[in-house]
Amino acid sequence: MRVLGIESSCDETGVAVYDSDAGLIAHHLYSQVKLHADYGGVVPELASRDHIRKTLPMIQRVLRDSGSEPADIDGVAFTLGPGLVGALMVGSCIGRSLAYAWGVPAVGVHHMEGHLLAPMLEENPPSFPFVALLVSGGHTQLMRVDGIGQYELLGESLDDAAGEAFDKAAKMLDLDYPGGPQIAKLASRGTERFKFPRPMTDRPGLDFSFSGLKTYTLNTIAEHAGPDGLPDDQTMADIAYAFQDAVVDTLLIKCRRAVEQTGLKALIMAGGVSANQSLREKLQKVMAKKGVQVYYPRPEFCVDNGAMIAFAGCQRLLAGQTEDLGISVKARWPLTSLPALAG
Ligand code: KG4
Ligand code: ZN
Repeated sequence: MRVLGIESSCDETGVAVYDSDAGLIAHHLYSQVKLHADYGGVVPELASRDHIRKTLPMIQRVLRDSGSEPADIDGVAFTLGPGLVGALMVGSCIGRSLAYAWGVPAVGVHHMEGHLLAPMLEENPPSFPFVALLVSGGHTQLMRVDGIGQYELLGESLDDAAGEAFDKAAKMLDLDYPGGPQIAKLASRGTERFKFPRPMTDRPGLDFSFSGLKTYTLNTIAEHAGPDGLPDDQTMADIAYAFQDAVVDTLLIKCRRAVEQTGLKALIMAGGVSANQSLREKLQKVMAKKGVQVYYPRPEFCVDNGAMIAFAGCQRLLAGQTEDLGISVKARWPLTSLPALAG
């Protein structure tokens, strides 16, 4: 089965063609980062308008690059939610309409299921069951995964998501959006001068809280601020280092607990924050000591992309799941409410 996938839930337009026999054949990604840069975050209306401009030409290109005619496409997958309503509407309208015009089934994919299954696009894919750490701009969740659609929530953030914390700390340090990669870059010049707290690690459980870390960062910046309101360059780098170290360490502590609690020997990590090099290296090290195999997607498939939507959609279409002709989106949609795939 050959599936066209469309991702448009936030500020990236992603399209891909995935074939259940040949694998991922072509994919393209367009990031709106520059469009939103002056605003310090994503402006939903601008995001929707840009998805409208980009999606069809990108589909045309991905079809061409995959050597596919519309007649070769057996199904269309698009992100149904969660995300920005206007942005989701673009992918949903285009995806549903193309499927109708081509006379093939359409399926609406859960954005986080896309992230969760993205490690399966890689050469050495994980097999079920495994623990999943989902860390993006909107979610920080630990799941037990027994199969596609068989998700048990083990813990989640009670306030800010890990990516959101990176973005907010970056803003305090006068860095551009999205903050994660910027903090990581600044932190690479930092030293172990400050030690930030590891929130909620002193009590049992697998939930997270990152909002206190934000306040701690703000206070540390204020304590060392010069006349322009910001600390000197090295202090800024030291703060970025301490912040990243605290988030990474907190995630590691909870991942260790999750594998101990479940007894599972595989852990996958996905979502934008999983592109973080320090997190990847440290998680690999900690889990190797416990005999747990770690899987994550290549960095370009950690952040939003069309390949993960085409792949997840293909699995659900193969199982016979399809959308009706009404065009809809789901701004909020718990991952645990998805139906399990048979087999
Ligand atoms: O998965 P994603 O592209 O979009 C959502 O579904 O939210 O994740 C975006 C988030 C942003 O908050 C961004 O700052 C963060 O992922 N991020 C990173 C890195 N790359 C992206 N955080 C830390 N380190 C990175 N290298
Ligand atoms: Zn995402």
